[in-house]
Amino acid sequence: MSNETRTAIVTGASKGIGAALARRLAQDGFCTIVNYASSATEAAEVVSAIERAGGRAKAIRADVADSAAVKELFDQAQAAYGPVDVLVNNAGIIKLAPLAQTTDEDFQQLIAVNLTGAFNGMREGAKRVRDGGRIINLSTSIIGNYLPAHGVYVATKAAIEALTHTLAKELGTRSVTVNAVAPGPIATELFFAGRSEEFVKRIVADIPLGRLGEPGDIAHIVSFLASPESGWVNGQVIKANGGRN
Ligand SMILES: NC(=O)c1ccc[n+]([C@@H]2O[C@H](COP(=O)([O-])OP(=O)(O)OC[C@H]3O[C@@H](n4cnc5c(N)ncnc54)[C@H](OP(=O)(O)O)[C@@H]3O)[C@@H](O)[C@H]2O)c1
Repeated sequence: MSNETRTAIVTGASKGIGAALARRLAQDGFCTIVNYASSATEAAEVVSAIERAGGRAKAIRADVADSAAVKELFDQAQAAYGPVDVLVNNAGIIKLAPLAQTTDEDFQQLIAVNLTGAFNGMREGAKRVRDGGRIINLSTSIIGNYLPAHGVYVATKAAIEALTHTLAKELGTRSVTVNAVAPGPIATELFFAGRSEEFVKRIVADIPLGRLGEPGDIAHIVSFLASPESGWVNGQVIKANGGRN
């Protein structure tokens, strides 16, 4: 096995899925950047957990919606550990409302964090991820279900999938693969926010495997996509939803 340092950036890694991805990539041997926007304490706890387990990690604040901040995130990651091998565009938010009740502010915020944020990461990653590297984006399994109140959120994820397919074709000559993971319902703050216990029960009843996903379920897939073994997987969207979608 090579002793060369490998570096991964996970955006939105202070909690939920991103925290599990950061811990897993660190366990896989990556020096891991734990990006966050406002949850500094939680990000520091993720770093501490990685270090206690013998890994290397650093928390870096950057609002992914701000292109200058994303550039600075790469600069700081590179200064800490060297060139970036893996970028996971995970940071995201959800706001649920029927289109008629969606405010300008909520629409702009969803676009800014989910779509502009992933775009900023992909554009910077396209220039700076090392040859042979990986870009992994977080989508959602519910594209195509067209659920009421989910329209703008799903629209941002559909756009991320479009950019994933395009970038995979643009970076292939450098052996950089670009894929997306599309989770179903995962037990995180984002999933539970604004949803009643009754609603959650109905969702679980609709999942053939009979349970919500856990962040670790997604970490297994990202770990594979970040590994050399996934080298022939490019421009794909991998759904993980317990068989629901
Ligand atoms: N949970 C699900 O059921 C589910 C299903 C399908 C897809 N997904 C996708 O999976 C991803 C992670 O979701 P999650 O459930 O883990 O959410 P979560 O628990 O709410 O965590 C979201 C993370 O994103 C960060 N974040 C939010 N805005 C940011 C910004 N502007 N810049 C940088 N970081 C920012 C948060 O950090 P701060 O607290 O510091 O802001 C936090 O670390 C999202 O893209 C989501 O759409 C989730």
